[in-house]
Amino acid sequence: MSEIQLTWRRYGLRDNPYFQNPLTTEDSTLLATFVGRKAEKAELKKVLQMGSDIRYLIIGEPGVGKTSLVNMMRMEAVRNKYFTPTNEIEINREMTGNELIVITLSALYQEMQKQGIDLDEHLMVQLQAFYELASIVETSSRDLTNITYLNRHKLLELFKELVDKLVNPRFHGIIVHYDNLDNVDAEALVSLMSDVRDFLLTKKVIFLFVGDPLLTSVVNIKPRVSQIFLSPSLDVEPLSYEKVLELLEKRVNILKSSDNTAVVCPHTDEAVKTLFDLHKGNLRSILNSLTNAVMELPSSNTPIQVTDDLLSNLLYRKVKEKYISKLTKVEQDILFKMLEHQSITPSELSKLTGKTPQNISSKYLKEFIRLGVVREPKKEGRNSIYEVIPEINWWRLGKKEAKKKPAVENETQIKIDKVQGKLSDFFE
Ligand SMILES: Nc1ncnc2c1ncn2[C@@H]1O[C@H](COP(=O)(O)OP(=O)(O)OP(=O)(O)O)[C@@H](O)[C@H]1O
Ligand SMILES: [Mg+2]
Repeated sequence: MSEIQLTWRRYGLRDNPYFQNPLTTEDSTLLATFVGRKAEKAELKKVLQMGSDIRYLIIGEPGVGKTSLVNMMRMEAVRNKYFTPTNEIEINREMTGNELIVITLSALYQEMQKQGIDLDEHLMVQLQAFYELASIVETSSRDLTNITYLNRHKLLELFKELVDKLVNPRFHGIIVHYDNLDNVDAEALVSLMSDVRDFLLTKKVIFLFVGDPLLTSVVNIKPRVSQIFLSPSLDVEPLSYEKVLELLEKRVNILKSSDNTAVVCPHTDEAVKTLFDLHKGNLRSILNSLTNAVMELPSSNTPIQVTDDLLSNLLYRKVKEKYISKLTKVEQDILFKMLEHQSITPSELSKLTGKTPQNISSKYLKEFIRLGVVREPKKEGRNSIYEVIPEINWWRLGKKEAKKKPAVENETQIKIDKVQGKLSDFFE
C-alpha cells in the first residue's frame, strides 16, 4: 500500500478526499459528491434542450469547476436520450481544423463501440480508419501533413452522414464537449475556430467549448466566428463556502474505509474558511492546499486534524522553504507586490516597484518563471498578463502565524493537557 493511502487510512478513509480531478461520468460514485450549481445547471439545461445547432462557451477561472459541471449535465442529458462521448475532448495544443474533425469523429466512434451501436458497414469501416489515424497522431506526434491534406468537403460529408444515421432514430441530438481550450494560444484558436466554422454548423449537434474567461474575447476577435456562438456564454463562478464544506463532507463520507475504522475528518471547518478566503473560493487551490497541509503534518500513528492554526503554520513554512527562501530580498519584495494583485502587466509592476520595465521583463519575471513562482504569461490583446502561482498565497498565512507560538507545539500541548487531565490519578 502506498504511503499516501496509509496517510488516509489513519483517518478511516480509502483515499485522498482532496483529489483535484474533475468529476467524470465514468465514476458515478464520485459524481455523487457534486454540489450546488442550480442556476448554471438550469441554464445549461435550457441550452441542451434546444437539441441542435448550438455552439456555446462555458467559461470561468481555472479550477472553479467548469469541466465537472459540464460532465454532470452531459450525464443527465444521456439519461434523456442524448448521445455524447464519455470523455471530454481535450484541445490543449495547437491543431488544424482537419485534426479537430478527425478527433471528434474518433471520439464519437469510440462511444458508439462502447454502446454497441453499429451503422452501415461502409460508414463503420471509414470511422474505424479515422479512429486509428487519430490514435496514431495522438500517440506518436508524427508529421500531420496527411491529415492536413484530407479533403475537407468529404470529411464534412462523412460527419453529417454519421450524425444523421446515429441520431435517427435513437437520440435527440449529440453533445460534443471540447475542454481546456485556454491552453491554446489565442491566435491559433481563432484561426482554428474560423477554419472549422462549417463543421460547427452541423445540425443536431451541440458543441460545448470550455475555457477561461479570455475565451470569450478570443471568440469575439472575428465576427465570422462570434456570430455562430450563442451569447451570452455561461459564466461559472466559485462555489460558496457552504457548498465547499458540503462537498468535502460528501467526499469524506463516500471515501469511508470499508473496515470499521472510525472516520476522523482531516480538516476543521475553520481551516477550510481560511483557505476559502485566501484563495477567493478557488476550489482547486483549496483542495491542493488541504492535501499539502496533511502531507506536511508530523508523522504520527493517530490521525491529526488540520485546524486553522496548524494549517497556517504548515503552509507558511512550506512556501517559505520551497519558494521564498530561494529569492533575494529584492526579488521577494517584487513578488510580494505581485501577490497584492490578481494579475499584472510588466509595465504596471515596473511602476509599483520603481524598477525599469526592461529589468522587470527580462530579469525578474524571467527568473520568477524559471523558479516556478510565477505562471507563464497570458496574452490579452497586446499585453502580457502575469500571475503568481496560487501557493504563493500561503505566505499571507504567515501574518497570523508570526503572533503565535508554533502551532504544532501548541496543539500538542493542548492534547497533552487533555490526556493528563483524564489520567490525573496516575500523575501524582
Ligand atoms: N459542483 C461541484 N461539486 C463538487 N465538486 C466539484 C464541483 N465542481 C468542481 N468540483 C471539484 O473541484 C475540482 C475542480 O473542478 P474542475 O476540474 O471541474 O474545474 P475546472 O474549472 O474545469 O478546472 P480547469 O480550469 O483546471 O480545467 C475537481 O476536483 C472537482 O471534482
Ligand atoms: Mg477543466
